[in-house]
Amino acid sequence: MRVLILGGDGYLGWPTAMAFSRKGHEVCVVDNYLRRNMCRDFDVDPLYPLPNLLERAKIWQAVSNKGIQVSIGDCCDYEFLREIVRSFSPDTVIHYAEQPSAPYSMLNYKAAKLTLSNNIESTFNIIWAVREHAPNCHIVKLGTMGEYGTPNIDIEEGWIDIEHNGRRDTFLYPRQASSLYHTTKVQDTDLLWFYVRTWGLRVTDLMQGPVYGLETEETKQDERLATIFNYDELFGTVVNRFVVQAVVGYPLTVYGKGGQIRGYLNIRDTIACVELAMLHPAAKGELKIYNQVTETFSVNELAEKVARVGQQRGHQVEVKSIENPRVEKEEHYYNPTYTGLKDLGLQPHFLTDEVLHGMFEVVERHKDNIHEHMIFRGVKW
Ligand SMILES: NC(=O)c1ccc[n+]([C@@H]2O[C@H](COP(=O)([O-])OP(=O)(O)OC[C@H]3O[C@@H](n4cnc5c(N)ncnc54)[C@H](O)[C@@H]3O)[C@@H](O)[C@H]2O)c1
Repeated sequence: MRVLILGGDGYLGWPTAMAFSRKGHEVCVVDNYLRRNMCRDFDVDPLYPLPNLLERAKIWQAVSNKGIQVSIGDCCDYEFLREIVRSFSPDTVIHYAEQPSAPYSMLNYKAAKLTLSNNIESTFNIIWAVREHAPNCHIVKLGTMGEYGTPNIDIEEGWIDIEHNGRRDTFLYPRQASSLYHTTKVQDTDLLWFYVRTWGLRVTDLMQGPVYGLETEETKQDERLATIFNYDELFGTVVNRFVVQAVVGYPLTVYGKGGQIRGYLNIRDTIACVELAMLHPAAKGELKIYNQVTETFSVNELAEKVARVGQQRGHQVEVKSIENPRVEKEEHYYNPTYTGLKDLGLQPHFLTDEVLHGMFEVVERHKDNIHEHMIFRGVKW
């Protein structure tokens, strides 16, 4: 397949690009370095330095003998994006190109505005570019489980049947996000659903939970192929951050009661899920939605797991509850359905002690690069 990956320099985008290239797909990646620039602006370096995207593609070529086409530019620039879609003519677009941090989106007006305009415009532009230049192309969009919030009823896979005054219909499952970032994802879903209904686009929206992990089959082949890994409170997802905190003896910071439950998945499973979605495309005029998680944990359970494995490896690990800086429920019902991707063949990698030991090994190798002052960012909402 010809696969266009928007956000191909990111945590998920770069490993996806290499995995699909290795499998023989024709891959083109697009990125404007927003993520790297935000990290630089907020003094939150990743765990190790990374070659730029053009260099990464050259290293990948040398290691695998396969090419990845690179285009540096902004998906919010319509002329740029439509030209890529026109000239590359993708069968599938994988849309990762968004500002992905909830705390960043709640920092201040400027960060909120950037999140809102970047995320909605990039989605809007890819919809138009596909319609104009590749109308049969399947859009695979990364959404988030955070779109649903934490309702006091079971969370369905995208849709819900409602019976009202004796009549029935099927609707998007109600969304009620708890950060501006997550709200932009709700808006993305609405935009996509509108254009699917109206123009007959083919779209899969993946409601993904927080991802953890550093290694995939491809990143392991050469350390210069590693993916970006942040451990600060702005860009580091919780498991990744806890492992780094454990390695440097920084308390694992649990917000409030720590009963916040979410669905998680390994970075290897993200790639597998996106591939499954790509290989089972939506029909014209269909919006497919999958809940992309493999298991659920409370923050307390995660902290306990990381602390236990850290202690086995000789680290002094303390778990510390701090006043919750976020507006969120600290204890709640949480029962999402996530069978769709398993039905397509997903074989999950669970968060076992062995997996955590593997993460610790990598982080310990880079211990000298960890700057404790970068961890706490004090974002409140
Ligand atoms: N990582 C997770 O745990 C997680 C969980 C749920 C959903 N997601 C979603 O998955 C997607 C990828 O997440 P990630 O963790 O890889 O984030 P990331 O920040 O590492 O990757 C996104 C990439 O897109 C690029 N980008 C952003 N806006 C752009 C634009 N306008 N034009 C071109 N490039 C642009 C960034 O520079 C970055 O390289 C995001 O949409 C995110 O919301 C991620």
